[in-house]
Amino acid sequence: MRRSAIIAGVACLSLALVGCSSTTNEAGSGGSDKDVQIVSWWAQGSEKAGLDALEKIFNKEKPECHFVNAAVAGGAGSQAKQKLQADLDAGNPPDSFQAHAGAELSDYISAGQIEDVSPLYDKFKLRDVFPETLIDRLTVDGKIYSIPSNIHRANVVWYNPKVLEEAGLPTDTLPDSVPAWIADMEKIKASGKIPITLGSNWTQTQLLESVLIADLGPDAYNGLWDGKTAWDSTEVTKALEDFQKIVKLAQIDSSADWEPTLDYVMNGKAAYNVMGDWAVAAFNEAKKVDGVDYKWAPVPGSKGVFDFLADSFTKPKGLKNAKCAEEWLDVIGSAAGQGEFNKIKGSIPARTDVDMSEFPAYQQAAAQDFKQDTIVASLSHGAAAPLAVSSAINDAVVKFTQGQGDDLAGFQKDLVNATKSLK
Ligand code: GAL
Repeated sequence: MRRSAIIAGVACLSLALVGCSSTTNEAGSGGSDKDVQIVSWWAQGSEKAGLDALEKIFNKEKPECHFVNAAVAGGAGSQAKQKLQADLDAGNPPDSFQAHAGAELSDYISAGQIEDVSPLYDKFKLRDVFPETLIDRLTVDGKIYSIPSNIHRANVVWYNPKVLEEAGLPTDTLPDSVPAWIADMEKIKASGKIPITLGSNWTQTQLLESVLIADLGPDAYNGLWDGKTAWDSTEVTKALEDFQKIVKLAQIDSSADWEPTLDYVMNGKAAYNVMGDWAVAAFNEAKKVDGVDYKWAPVPGSKGVFDFLADSFTKPKGLKNAKCAEEWLDVIGSAAGQGEFNKIKGSIPARTDVDMSEFPAYQQAAAQDFKQDTIVASLSHGAAAPLAVSSAINDAVVKFTQGQGDDLAGFQKDLVNATKSLK
């Protein structure tokens, strides 16, 4: 091994807490006028493959710019967001960074850290190619602060049909309610397999939001974010009781990111994993066959509801290379960029004019659902609530699961406190 590689490896080790990718070194290398530094959390595995596709198109279409990958590993931005916040607060922004469309952007907007990019919507002719509902979610006081690259769905269960079969369960459809699904989990447990796996805080919150959507229905779920549904109501208590039952049946590894917990389903040790549809990219990368090695369905009880989130890219104030940052945003919003990226990433294009015929079957179905389902905003992926609220909910969830899911009343009280700032 070359000495520089060894040194980089040591630096990576010491940076382990904030994540590290081989290219973070490139980001710190001083750079040239062409460099455009892009922060995301697509640092490894199937997620990096998606970013690589974007980089390839960017390099080809914008030869006057040089993509510098400043990705920070950690699913759902669990590490990237902290590092980014420190850089923004220190007045050292990247040229563009990944952020969830919706409520999570409000943190950066109110801190005055990102620019209104609505002039770019006109320049790149984006207003007519994104769904109106998405533009509405992105618009704050008439301004738009990011350009979406994709749309993901969070309320999906990925399951291993062989494990269900061994437990004597049907494999073509899942039950249509959470209680019936829990009954199936009991059967799986009795067959000697793990019913469901959970990982770090946000994966647990993602399960919680899916159960809330399924049990409350989309209207009452939406009400959780604008004060119309009380967090201390009995309907929420009922949903939390279901969540509690699942937690008690789950194998939980709070230190694991999403891919290792999905692996249990892939290798036939567990039946179910609730995960956003970036999971399909991991199955594809492992060469698993949809419908044979794995199947998927909306979380039981939430059929017809699409728990939406979108990744988007921003133009930070005080960035170094405005010209190439705009070129990057041009590629992010373009039909070619969205086509190549989303095929690999498991998501669907945010644009409505991308040809879906060459997309894998999963995304074709997701695109169809997105058109006809009721759309709700994901909590764990920044669409429903500001970062301070989702972080406080994460803390409440982990406290509950670390206490073996025993203190339901305490959990509900913590959730009430976590969401106090919402109108
Ligand atoms: C989400 C993000 C997805 C995917 C996932 C896992 O927050 O929107 O694109 O990266 O995290 O890391």
